Amino acid sequence: MTAAEEMQGKVALVTGAGSGMGRATALALLEKGASVVALDVDEGGLLALGSHDRLVTVRCDVTDRDDVVAAAALAIATFGGIDILCASAGICRPESVVDAGAVWTATMNVNVKGTLNACQAVIPHMRARGGGSIVTWASTNAFQATPNLAAYNVSKAAVLMLTKSIAVDHAVDGIRANALCPGWVRTPMAGDLAEAYGSEEAWLASIARTQPLGLATAEAVARAAVFLASDASSMMTGSAVMVDGGLTAKSASTSPPPVRAIDMSAAAMTG
Ligand SMILES: NC(=O)c1ccc[n+]([C@@H]2O[C@H](COP(=O)([O-])OP(=O)(O)OC[C@H]3O[C@@H](n4cnc5c(N)ncnc54)[C@H](O)[C@@H]3O)[C@@H](O)[C@H]2O)c1
Repeated sequence: MTAAEEMQGKVALVTGAGSGMGRATALALLEKGASVVALDVDEGGLLALGSHDRLVTVRCDVTDRDDVVAAAALAIATFGGIDILCASAGICRPESVVDAGAVWTATMNVNVKGTLNACQAVIPHMRARGGGSIVTWASTNAFQATPNLAAYNVSKAAVLMLTKSIAVDHAVDGIRANALCPGWVRTPMAGDLAEAYGSEEAWLASIARTQPLGLATAEAVARAAVFLASDASSMMTGSAVMVDGGLTAKSASTSPPPVRAIDMSAAAMTG
């Protein structure tokens, strides 16, 4: 099977397709032969995807349920159904817990309600088609709280639990749902946060200390998304898929304990 045949006949809706991992996922799905309906609020980002006979782009705000429902209807009218949802649209803005207000509301709206809106728009169509695969974008922040990112941390934990809820509610419909949990990925979103480190070098040095495989590319995460979207992951549902270069595997301790010679002689072991 060639790369272009792997997802032939599949129709995918991708949110946040105008940038970063959503963009990389839309392009990877196209390369594998799927038809793609790419959604974003950023029309320039959508335009930059280029043109393709299996690509339709739609300006869509995921916080607006009618917008997402209309995009799903367009996918069906154009390509005959929906098999895959990749819900990548998200925002990440700093705000402390005590100040939680405007950022909290916006983050919950886009990351949680936006993901829910997209899932609600596709599930009835997937059910009618006999199944489908939903890939959501949680984060290592679903497990580890980054300081001053309270809203983001909470939103990603919510996305993960939403994904598990869909998995258990809709297995009976043949619908699978899995959450990607990336660590640091080089995208415009990560670039905005990187500014807080003062320089690119300081940012990369921090990542080198905490993420053993270093900074990820959007394309590397997109390959995991395509795997979860495809039948190759047919027994996976409700999973938190760590695409984090070892970030959550690594202890926070930066200095290894000293390695001492241990006397393993029988006398030492019994005495
Ligand atoms: N970059 C990272 O290090 C990282 C790590 C873990 C998880 N994530 C998550 O991965 C996902 C993709 O992030 P990215 O790094 O590619 O970011 P990005 O900023 O490059 O892309 C996000 C896209 O979502 C779109 N978007 C924002 N609000 C929207 C809305 N209301 N409706 C429709 N589209 C909207 C933006 O216009 C943008 O094109 C996000 O959910 C993010 O939280 C990112």
